[in-house]
Amino acid sequence: MQKSIAELLQEETFLQEVTVKGWVRTFRANRFIALNDGSTINNIQCVVDFENTDENILKRITTGAAISISGILKESLGKGQRIEIEVKNIEILGDSNPEEYPIQPKKHSFEFLRENAHLRVRTNTFSAVMRVRSALSFAVHKYFTENGFYNFHAPIITGSDAEGAGEMFRVTTMNPEKIQKDENGNVDYTRDFFGKETNLTVSGQLEAETYAMALGKVYTFGPTFRAENSNTTRHLAEFWMIEPEMAFYDLDANMDLAEDFIKNVIKYVLENCKDDLEFLDQRYTKEEQSKPQQQRSEMTLLEKLNFVVDNNFKRVTYTEAIDILRNCKPNKKKKFQFIINEWGADLQSEHERYLVEKHFKCPVILFDYPANIKAFYMRLNDDGKTVRAMDVLFPGIGEIVGGSQREERLDVLKEKIKTLGIDEKELWWYLDLRKFGTAVHSGFGLGFERLVQFTTGMGNIRDVIPFPRTPQNAEF
Ligand code: 4AD
Ligand code: MG
Repeated sequence: MQKSIAELLQEETFLQEVTVKGWVRTFRANRFIALNDGSTINNIQCVVDFENTDENILKRITTGAAISISGILKESLGKGQRIEIEVKNIEILGDSNPEEYPIQPKKHSFEFLRENAHLRVRTNTFSAVMRVRSALSFAVHKYFTENGFYNFHAPIITGSDAEGAGEMFRVTTMNPEKIQKDENGNVDYTRDFFGKETNLTVSGQLEAETYAMALGKVYTFGPTFRAENSNTTRHLAEFWMIEPEMAFYDLDANMDLAEDFIKNVIKYVLENCKDDLEFLDQRYTKEEQSKPQQQRSEMTLLEKLNFVVDNNFKRVTYTEAIDILRNCKPNKKKKFQFIINEWGADLQSEHERYLVEKHFKCPVILFDYPANIKAFYMRLNDDGKTVRAMDVLFPGIGEIVGGSQREERLDVLKEKIKTLGIDEKELWWYLDLRKFGTAVHSGFGLGFERLVQFTTGMGNIRDVIPFPRTPQNAEF
């Protein structure tokens, strides 16, 4: 089998003949080709004997061109690499016109690269991010498989709104001109493909619960969709979510799992993506240095990752968090205004970040939130006003996980549904789980892109998914 550049760079046997295919990153002095095939952040240096090479071939060795090189693997005397190839033969596989090729061997802005999302993975930064993303994805499946979970494929098209937030993309086959409306002016979906109103899933949780109540421990890892109109560095309209759901787990067991899971997948990439993480660490440090002193991270990227792996997450109730926020001084002039008097308000990202980055200086799990700011399915505590909810908050990211112990008592759940004005008939199958063999159970959802963002140190969530979907943006 032909060896990849990642494999060749590990070679110990010199003077063997090798063939390698890849894309030209740079071609210097008509002599040195930096060749990359995507297998590693590192290029292999190919040294051309230009005096004995056809000039027409030399002209076509341009940035972005696909080439095949045969030659002798040699120890390199040059600085910066251990190995190089003494080129014997070059074949041009695909030309790349340097006048037109958008990815030049220089630093491009992330904005520019987003406009060229089909080519940006050819840069060092994006190829490193996407390799780490792939490794994280593998680590997720590995972790759950090794811990007795079954992978459950949640439906993408659903008739339910798991989060009750109404941020759904409708699915319809109806021609806009032929849409039928009833006497109240509402769209008549009974005439549509599914005979009812449907949407792209916002979370696979409700369906995952049905499987947990038969297979015990399951997890989903699939795309989810939210039509929330938030143009932030942490929100996408299409993102991937990992949702484990476990029968017989209470909230404490759920928190233990979330912490252990996150630590393990980060540990996996620390061990298996060393070159890419080192590159991303340097990029992160440069970016931090360009910020004003007070806004800079105190740790390097690698320090942050190791810190998460090596330290316990701090667990605090919502009520304790509110007390901290009431009494703190985020800056010299003013306190946080909004929650000073009001128990029950939802935390804004500035409050979450204060708790994590300034107060505790470590990942935080907030739990036991007020019932009225959380979804209908969360288990009510004995105090009658808080629910067994948990959010995991991360430095620089904010909320990375949202989860809860689920309400397993039929009467309490029915009452909640009624209070919220949800039609019980819509959730008949979900209520069945509480009628037949109900049990304590829990689960959570981790936003995969937020995890990739944290692990790679990228500032904007749009730069950790191949083709980001955000308001007014679905070019590719
Ligand atoms: O907190 P959320 O809304 O929780 C749920 O959907 C639950 N049903 C999960 C469960 O218990 N099975 O979303 C979970 C996580 C968030 O913590 C965040 O990391 C991510 O999903 N997330 C987003 N990521 C990117 N873009 C968005 N618009 C996101 N919305 C949520
Ligand atoms: Mg949430």
